[in-house]
Amino acid sequence: MIPPIEPVITIDGASGTGKGTVSQLLAKQLGWNFLDSGALYRVLALASQKHSVALEDEASLEVLAEHLDVQFIAKENDLPQVILEGEDVTDIIRTEKMGNAASIVAALPAVRAALLSRQRAFRDAPGLVADGRDMGTVVFPDAEIKVFLTASPEERALRRLNQLKARGISVTLGDLITELKERDRRDQERAVAPLKAADDAICIDTNHLTIAQVVDKILWEIDSKKVLPAIAS
Ligand code: DC
Repeated sequence: MIPPIEPVITIDGASGTGKGTVSQLLAKQLGWNFLDSGALYRVLALASQKHSVALEDEASLEVLAEHLDVQFIAKENDLPQVILEGEDVTDIIRTEKMGNAASIVAALPAVRAALLSRQRAFRDAPGLVADGRDMGTVVFPDAEIKVFLTASPEERALRRLNQLKARGISVTLGDLITELKERDRRDQERAVAPLKAADDAICIDTNHLTIAQVVDKILWEIDSKKVLPAIAS
């Protein structure tokens, strides 16, 4: 007998579209597993620093990615705790610098291939909510529901500014917009698994929506498609 394949909901989009928070809330509401695929690229970027591997050294990064000693420990109302080689790196990987470094290593085809099976291993009972750039196009092309979130660069930078302010980090809106556009360009123009909506994705413009409204819209889509078992409300 062919074993049943667990259902997957993919949430893709650029940074600042709210996909991380939306995915987390959705996973919690459904009682499903959660994959923050960006965290894997961020951890790899950090590991490359630790082991003095250049961000362009594809062959060494591929080996590093294959042997990455990383654990994700689920937390009740927050992003998972991330442990790299026994060290808690949950906060270190969340900086803008690490986000940019992640975007550079993520453009390398051998790195993406090396991280593929690791991401697919998150597909476990009762289901998975997967957050990233290529979840619906490459990693889980057979996902039951695919969502692609968008928002203007200005709105996304403003959201990021408020998040950083809350953490006592001061940056200018102008600098954030410039960095964000540069990261978008790199993520969208790379040859392998570029940031784009899957043909069968539901696109949601989050510019004027709260996180709760986005989650509700997705739950409504899940319900109306009737492809998943009854949803916990
Ligand atoms: O979602 P994030 O900001 O944590 O992701 C950091 C970088 O990692 C992002 O700029 C591009 C890369 N990334 C990717 O290429 N593919 C994914 N599925 C997730 C992230």
